[in-house]
Amino acid sequence: MCGIVGYIGSKDAKEVLLRGLEKLEYRGYDSAGIAIVNKDGVHVFKEKGRIAALRNVVDTAVSGTAGIGHTRWATHGVPSRVNAHPHQSETERFTLVHNGVIENYEKLKREYLADIELTSDTDTEIIVQLVERFAREEKDVEAAISKTLSLLKGSYATAILDKQDSSKVYVGKNKSPLLIGVGDGVNVIASDAMAMLQVTNQFLEIMDEELVIVTRDNVTVKTLEGTVVERDPFTAELDESDIEKGTYPHFMLKEIDEQPFVMRNIIQKYQNEDGSVRLEEDIRQAMTSSDRIYIIAAGTSYHAGLVGKQLIEKLTNCPVEVHIASEFLYNMPVLSKNPLFVFISQSGETADLRGVLVEVKKLGYKTLTVTNVPGSTLSREADFTLHTYAGPEIAVASTKAYTAQMAVFTLLAVDTAKAKGIELDFDPLQELGIVASVMETLCDQKESFEQIARDFLSVTRNCFFIGRATDYYVCLEGSLKLKEISYIQAEGFAGGELKHGTIALIEDGTPVVALATQDHVNLSIRGNVKEVVARGAAPCIISMEGMEEKDDTFVIPTVHKLLTPLVSVIPMQLIAYYAALHRDCDVDKPRNLAKSVTVE
Ligand code: M6R
Repeated sequence: MCGIVGYIGSKDAKEVLLRGLEKLEYRGYDSAGIAIVNKDGVHVFKEKGRIAALRNVVDTAVSGTAGIGHTRWATHGVPSRVNAHPHQSETERFTLVHNGVIENYEKLKREYLADIELTSDTDTEIIVQLVERFAREEKDVEAAISKTLSLLKGSYATAILDKQDSSKVYVGKNKSPLLIGVGDGVNVIASDAMAMLQVTNQFLEIMDEELVIVTRDNVTVKTLEGTVVERDPFTAELDESDIEKGTYPHFMLKEIDEQPFVMRNIIQKYQNEDGSVRLEEDIRQAMTSSDRIYIIAAGTSYHAGLVGKQLIEKLTNCPVEVHIASEFLYNMPVLSKNPLFVFISQSGETADLRGVLVEVKKLGYKTLTVTNVPGSTLSREADFTLHTYAGPEIAVASTKAYTAQMAVFTLLAVDTAKAKGIELDFDPLQELGIVASVMETLCDQKESFEQIARDFLSVTRNCFFIGRATDYYVCLEGSLKLKEISYIQAEGFAGGELKHGTIALIEDGTPVVALATQDHVNLSIRGNVKEVVARGAAPCIISMEGMEEKDDTFVIPTVHKLLTPLVSVIPMQLIAYYAALHRDCDVDKPRNLAKSVTVE
């Protein structure tokens, strides 16, 4: 959450920073700001709202070859110009942007800054005020920043300018992501490499509790104690075109359409020359030697985890538990003797998951991260990583990352089953190929889903999704998609559970989307549909070939019975997309949300 950029080179920093922030807007978009340093001092421009609003207040006459920028997702203090970053110290000597949450900011204020009035409601401002305070005492900026950072509890990624020395940008991080981009006579700073591909594809990782001094020609990494650390840059395997919308009106629609390609990509990446599944031996060992798997995830990735549990249990007989990351540490189950922890995260940065990862590592357990961003925090810190190869996902609503996660779980389950000597009666890569084709067929029928959204959801305030067995998990995802982008109150229910209370909410015309792709529960879910129809509900039944009935709203072509969620979610994604569109919602950047949830 929140995006940071920085630039120090020979060009005017303004446009690079603004373009960088536009690429990072998915991380938070309630206010934004930049600071440019030049011989006249530091010039700060900030505004409530999107980067477009910020552009309107930036004075084009001001230029400078170094600067920092920020796009915010508010944690402390309402979205406003005052609370927007950059923040400045008492005498405006230091200017700072920050991503994260400083848990002890009130204590630090009492102990060190009781004599000053803060100008904002943020936890962030404390950092910049402390830097100035300590710089006065220590007379050494590096020492002042190191001292400040070592006092902070919580998470931070930060970039700091000093008005008295425009040749440097100071950078530090703890738990929140931040990278240094390395160029020729130019260096940049970014929360995500995407933001600075405009300058370089060479990036340097920063570890927690390091201080980095960035000049035009040098990047010096030090521990907070002052020891210099040598580190080589890596090449970001990203192309600028991967992060453009192209001819699509929204990233979400583009990403829905990319799903068949993602499936084929996964097949290719995980296929041996003889057509078998290729996975790392270490991961195989970890899977086969564990007596229980604990999947930890949040949001859409949690829903993929529920499907992952089915796949692993059905194919390998190994018991699996799926836990919401933010709850796990407060309500830890009794663990098995030999657990394997699997973290599912599109971004690889979700703070709730990292909290669990750190704790279970302390307990000495093996960890695997399934992520779309290898090199992300969760990927670096886990013992093993499985890459989902979905390509950058920009829309806040996750689509292709979800289906990619389930595809990778299929291969993980199949590989584990084979290693355990369990005979399987299907070829997973071939079945994923069929999934890709069916996805294509569904994506080609967008008018049908637009019509469904129009018929069922254009005026409603609420909607229910019901399904049984694996369909129930897809209903959870379908309802999340709908609510997060269209703001329609939507809930996913197990078909049989509705009548234990929630059916009281069904009235004349209440839309109920029923998913019927599971043969063994087809009759039961049809019964549940009748129950809600008898109470006035407007049913939208999405079924699968071979199980369809006369009045079904849409019939999905058949895929392997274990892989139905990979295709049945596509109608849900498209219905949510069109419902949001018809309501004039901001599809890619829904209110109150951010793509990467880096605060707990
Ligand atoms: O990056 P992650 O997969 O860890 O993110 C987890 C959730 O925040 C995420 O899936 C969220 O629920 C999506 N925006 C839903 O579309």
